[in-house]
Amino acid sequence: MGIYLDNSATSHPKPAEVYDAVIHTLKEVGANPGRGGHKPSLRASRIIFEARELIATFFNAERSSRIVFTSNATSALNMAIKGILNEGDEVITTPLEHNSVLRPLFSLKKSRSVEIKFIDCAPDGTIDPYSIEKLITKKTRLLVLNHSSNVIGTISPAKEIFSVCKRHNVLTLLDSAQTAGVIPIDVMDMNIDMLATAGHKSLLGPQGTGILYVKEGINLKPLIEGGTGTQSSSIEQPVDMPESLESGTVNTPGIAGLKAGVEFIMRNGLKNIRDHEIRLNKMLIEKLSDNKKIILYGPKNPEKISSPVSFNIKNLDCSEVGFILDEIYDIYVRVGLHCAPLVHKLIGTFPQGTVRISVGYFNTEEDIDAVVKAINEISCKV
Ligand code: ALA
Repeated sequence: MGIYLDNSATSHPKPAEVYDAVIHTLKEVGANPGRGGHKPSLRASRIIFEARELIATFFNAERSSRIVFTSNATSALNMAIKGILNEGDEVITTPLEHNSVLRPLFSLKKSRSVEIKFIDCAPDGTIDPYSIEKLITKKTRLLVLNHSSNVIGTISPAKEIFSVCKRHNVLTLLDSAQTAGVIPIDVMDMNIDMLATAGHKSLLGPQGTGILYVKEGINLKPLIEGGTGTQSSSIEQPVDMPESLESGTVNTPGIAGLKAGVEFIMRNGLKNIRDHEIRLNKMLIEKLSDNKKIILYGPKNPEKISSPVSFNIKNLDCSEVGFILDEIYDIYVRVGLHCAPLVHKLIGTFPQGTVRISVGYFNTEEDIDAVVKAINEISCKV
């Protein structure tokens, strides 16, 4: 393996405990949780229960039954958006959103006449929390906010924006795919009604895991209905949480791995993890800024961004840069639009996109030196 710098897509490697938990659950537990009374099934149920409790504590949810396991952040966002918005509702969002928010919203614009309003962002993705007040009307049901852009990393002032929402009775949904596991999230303190996130990025779990938190008192219409292992005599979908939103067999090995990932974060400390990310990004931004052929996008202060740093080399297509980094240097980054087209319209890189470097907890200063050296060599050739 070369140097992996694509942690915004999925984190790699995972802590050893994550691999162990997945393999142990597959080999030694095996059974379906909540679907049988035998010993292995009860052991599987215990793993799911403990993971739910841990994640509820991690995000300060009022109770663990409000934590729903999903297959990724996209499924969590679809469940929240399609489960809450009704015919003719208005929704406020930002140009920083990923297609996992934009596509469900634009599909509801067609099918349920939902009106979408966009908050203005500065070219570096910065938002003035008080600018949203003028967008709110009596019909505004929901505000969907990206906690941090997966392209330029800009961190949104979620707490401030959501406190404005609360004053106007607008529901809040935070997409924390890029921040959960590295930036503190407290659903009560931040007025978060719904939180959607991936389990396989900074939470360090395996792919195929995601989380949706839904605040007590909010009832989402389920996207998927089916077997829950509860109230089986009824042909109606149960309303109890989390079963109402968790039809079908859950990803027990994946959730076991996710639990091990969250335990690793709690043991190592969120602050240490975040400090490491800031240190590496500071080094990366400073070194890339020395090269006059490089255009950097987004805030230059590493405290204002999460992991991703986007750039282009003047007169060179981003896909060519990514190809050379991969082929010649064995350095793995993501290039293109990163499934977030509106951010590129904001920063002026649509439709080509950017080269994106995204560090993770297991990257080192040597990795940053290596990628900067490679980029400088590539830029010398144009
Ligand atoms: N949303 C992920 C990314 O930004 C997959 O790469």
